[in-house]
Amino acid sequence: MRVIGIETSCDETGVAVFDDQQGLLADLLFSQIELHSEYGGVVPELASRDHIRKTLPMIMDCLEKSGSTPDDIDGIAYTAGPGLVGALMVGASIAKAIAYAWDKPAIGVHHMEGHLLAPMMTDDKPEYPFVALLVSGGHTLLLDCQAFGDYRMLGESVDDAAGEAFDKVAKMLGLGYPGGPAVAALATKGIVGTYRFPRPMTDRPGFNFSFSGLKTFTMNTLADIQEPTHQDKANIAAAFQEAVIDTVRIKCKRALEHTRSPALVVAGGVSANTALRERLDKLGSQLKCRVHYPELKYCTDNGAMIAYAGLERLKAGHQETHAIEVRPRWPLSELSHPQEI
Ligand code: KG4
Ligand code: ZN
Repeated sequence: MRVIGIETSCDETGVAVFDDQQGLLADLLFSQIELHSEYGGVVPELASRDHIRKTLPMIMDCLEKSGSTPDDIDGIAYTAGPGLVGALMVGASIAKAIAYAWDKPAIGVHHMEGHLLAPMMTDDKPEYPFVALLVSGGHTLLLDCQAFGDYRMLGESVDDAAGEAFDKVAKMLGLGYPGGPAVAALATKGIVGTYRFPRPMTDRPGFNFSFSGLKTFTMNTLADIQEPTHQDKANIAAAFQEAVIDTVRIKCKRALEHTRSPALVVAGGVSANTALRERLDKLGSQLKCRVHYPELKYCTDNGAMIAYAGLERLKAGHQETHAIEVRPRWPLSELSHPQEI
């Protein structure tokens, strides 16, 4: 089975072709970073307009690069949510139009299921059951994953997502957008231990997260320094990053012990963070549990993960009508279980 995947939920246009026998055949990504950087964040209307310009030519290009004709394609997967409604509508409309024209099934994919399954595109695939930590710009989720499509929510962020907190702290420190990689780079120059930031919600039971207080703590720490030097900012970046990582580590440990899962899967944009990977690898060896990540380029948004998730859904018999529907808000727990299809 060969599926084309289309990702347009936010500020990246991603298109890829995945074949269940041959793996990833082609993968194109266009980032809108330059378009949004002067505004310090994503401008939804500009994002939609750019997806309109890029998506169709990228599909045609990707088809050619994968050595496929429309006849070779068995399905068209697109991100149906969650995300920016206009941006989602572009991908959904194009996917449905192509599906109609080529007489192939279209399949709406949950963006976070795409992230969750991205580590499956490696040779060393995680096996169910496992605990998943999904850390992106829009979500922070801890899931107990029993089987494909059977994801039980253990906890989530009650306010900002981990990536969102990185982006906001980057803005405070005068770094560019997107902020995660910039804060991570600055943190490497910082002296850990100069400041002690809180580990929110770790002193109470449960698996939820809260990152908005950390953001305020960062702002206040910065405001207390009269003319912060580059070193001061690096020390703050290091303390903030350390606090996020340590909080996440504590909750992952708790979830792994609670579920007795033999593996941890970490995915989403923040899973590209080297310090986070080091810390969770350490936790894995401590608990004798495998830790899986996507390849670095499949941590952040991409079309490959959507093609892969769509292929799995189609193989499980998932079907939909020609109606164009997206779900800007869509809890992962509401995904249909493949056995229910
Ligand atoms: O998964 P993703 O591409 O988009 C969403 O679905 O939201 O995640 C993007 C987020 C951004 O907030 C970005 O700052 C963060 O992931 N990010 C990082 C790193 N690379 C990307 N955060 C920390 N360290 C990184 N190396
Ligand atoms: Zn994402």
